[in-house]
Amino acid sequence: MPRGLAPIPSIVSGTALTGFALVLLKVMFPHVGMLMVLLASLLMGLAAATLAAIFYHSTSRQAREMRRSMETLLRPSQDWNFTPAGDEMAALASSLQLSARQVRVMVETTQRESARLEAILSSMVEAVVAVDPLLRITFVNRAFAELMGMSLPIAPGIPLVQVARDHAFLEMCTGVLAAGEQQQKRLVLAAAGARSFEVQVAPLAGDPHRGAIAMLYDVTDIERLERIRKDFVANVSHELRTPLAAVSGYAETLLEGALEEPDTGRRFVEIILAKARQLNNIVTDLLILSTLESGKPPLPEPISLRESLENALRTVEPVARTRGIRLVCGPFDDLSVLGHEVRLEQVFVNLLDNAIKFNRPDGEVRVDVARATEHAMVHVRDTGLGIPSRDLPRIFERFYRVDKARSRATGGTGLGLAIVKHAVEQMGGSVSVESRLGQGSVFTVALPPAENNLSAN
Ligand SMILES: Nc1ncnc2c1ncn2[C@@H]1O[C@H](COP(=O)(O)OP(=O)(O)OP(=O)(O)O)[C@@H](O)[C@H]1O
Ligand SMILES: [Mg+2]
Repeated sequence: MPRGLAPIPSIVSGTALTGFALVLLKVMFPHVGMLMVLLASLLMGLAAATLAAIFYHSTSRQAREMRRSMETLLRPSQDWNFTPAGDEMAALASSLQLSARQVRVMVETTQRESARLEAILSSMVEAVVAVDPLLRITFVNRAFAELMGMSLPIAPGIPLVQVARDHAFLEMCTGVLAAGEQQQKRLVLAAAGARSFEVQVAPLAGDPHRGAIAMLYDVTDIERLERIRKDFVANVSHELRTPLAAVSGYAETLLEGALEEPDTGRRFVEIILAKARQLNNIVTDLLILSTLESGKPPLPEPISLRESLENALRTVEPVARTRGIRLVCGPFDDLSVLGHEVRLEQVFVNLLDNAIKFNRPDGEVRVDVARATEHAMVHVRDTGLGIPSRDLPRIFERFYRVDKARSRATGGTGLGLAIVKHAVEQMGGSVSVESRLGQGSVFTVALPPAENNLSAN
């Protein structure tokens, strides 16, 4: 017998009807025998019970059909296929049908929304993790899993402490769960390779709180760039202030009376001129760097390597002569490379200038050109001081100088190699260095060929 439908009330009402009929017969026909009366009441009782059973059977069948149809209707792309008999049942069926359709639409909408949210969270660069009130993980997105080295999907209920062993972060989550108020902090997470994060933790709505959700935004690179910017501003101010102080100092001394002494006066004016040139060099280098970094690169054009090197050697020749440095250029067949004429010449001038400046007295600077499979290679060798290996990775940074005092004394600001690196890379080439302390250094520039003229090696 199906649950929820009891035939008892129908039978009880049938028996009550029989009793009532019996009393009626007795009143109406007092002379008929007791047997007839009993027989009649038995028949009537049977009829009532049969009617009740038929009614029950039909009702329960319809209820079963209706339940089956409801279940069908809740499944996607299925429809109601049952029409019950009777007005009341039909009305009930139609209102159930309507409710079931509404439920189906709601379920489908919720499923779509949930899939959309999951897709958004997964594609976010920010790492997201949700926890329950006991700090057990209920959700992580791909970025968080990658950050913490977890594989997806995660096992449900992992304690957050097992994944992110970071006291400050866990304390933040606990605080949000306890107070139910959002918190935002910048944290360095040891669990995520000691990177810096802007962390935002918010309570998840519920009664009283259903948990918390944390969003971690990686700001390590932004912090690094901010540091570089600050260092750059500090360096520029420092580099400009030193010659400017000299200019104003000597000018004041001249005005205070040194002008009256021709020899001293002339010496001071020469110093002022040298400092003004130094300031001009710094500003020019800064402008070149800024154009290289942010400006649109000029269209590459074929350049004769021989011409470019000869021009550069001519430019530095007077300085080399003054310092007693020999300039040597090894023999080579001219090569055509792709780049920008003025900038390439500047690259060679900067490298040659360093090779002369940081050389020993009576030293040598040698330029060699070689053909490699995909590049033209220019080597600038010197017999100078050499560069300590710990400084090698940094010498291409702006304002970096191994020996600040010595470099400044020779008028250097530490921008030359930064310009070399940017210019060469903008032409699609690269620059590298090898050095031995006390023996000298070799700077190598690799440049892309203008045409396929590198085949004969
Ligand atoms: N050939 C070299 N031999 C030894 N040290 C070098 C050589 N070239 C560069 N360096 C080191 O690298 C530092 C950076 O070189 P860079 O050319 O950028 O600056 P600079 O020559 O000091 O100043 P600037 O080029 O702006 O006039 C130099 O200060 C020097 O310490
Ligand atoms: Mg230099």
